[in-house]
Amino acid sequence: MEAKVLNGKELSTKIKEELKLEVDELKKSNINPGLAVIIVGNDPASRVYVNSKKKACAEIGMESFEYALDENTSEEALIDLIHKLNKDEKVSGILVQLPLPKHIDEEKVIFAIDPSKDVDAFHPVNVGKLMTGNPDFLPCTPAGIMELIKESGIDISGKECVVVGRSNIVGKPMAMLLLSKNGTVTVCHSRTADIEEVCKRADILVVAVGKPEFIKGSSVKPGAVVIDVGINRLENKKLVGDVEYESASCVASAITPVPGGVGPMTIAMLMKNTVKAARLQAK
Ligand code: GUN
Repeated sequence: MEAKVLNGKELSTKIKEELKLEVDELKKSNINPGLAVIIVGNDPASRVYVNSKKKACAEIGMESFEYALDENTSEEALIDLIHKLNKDEKVSGILVQLPLPKHIDEEKVIFAIDPSKDVDAFHPVNVGKLMTGNPDFLPCTPAGIMELIKESGIDISGKECVVVGRSNIVGKPMAMLLLSKNGTVTVCHSRTADIEEVCKRADILVVAVGKPEFIKGSSVKPGAVVIDVGINRLENKKLVGDVEYESASCVASAITPVPGGVGPMTIAMLMKNTVKAARLQAK
């Protein structure tokens, strides 16, 4: 049986419609959410992501402020800008698009963002709050995935959850969120002895490794929910995920497509965090 397709495009549209109503309400109380988006350099993929984020702001009636900085911008100049935005009352959320050029220390930059404006939830204060189970902001991609899993009707409690990839942006926080819903969580990575064997145990399989079609249907347990975080452009220009869709969708009960799965959900969650930041700051 073909797997149910978890349509992130559709769900993200619904979430943005709800957020638009919320923004309209906030504006009536003189609260105007706004997102500052900083991009350094000319990475084409980052440019696409930043444009999508600005477009989403416009869709929900929220202001965005773009800061497109030259590739050679110093770490100091970038941090000065962040300090200025921390104090700017029109700015509810600050997003620094990653990756940054090599001469800039990402950790220092993230640390400079006021945690109450850290809508990516990358600051150690927000990472810590997630770990201890009392977060203000959820990291966008894992939060979007949790919404998609909820939409698929599956209860995470007691399930075998396998996360492939251990990045700070996706793998690690994803494991935390699944754990917070009482999943039994295993994190695989490049040094895992037998990834296929571990993946075959998963009722819920989340793959975020950045390698085209890395996980095949033969590593998927029949009936599993498969979440594909990858966005890889092949030489023939085709976009594929980290999961081989054709073989996996014959085995899984539900699967996210690429594009139109996790990607749009990440942006919807960023909007949700920014609206929440504005509400919290108004208190
Ligand atoms: N680069 C890849 N994913 C992300 C993300 O979620 N936020 C930011 N700021 N940069 C990214």
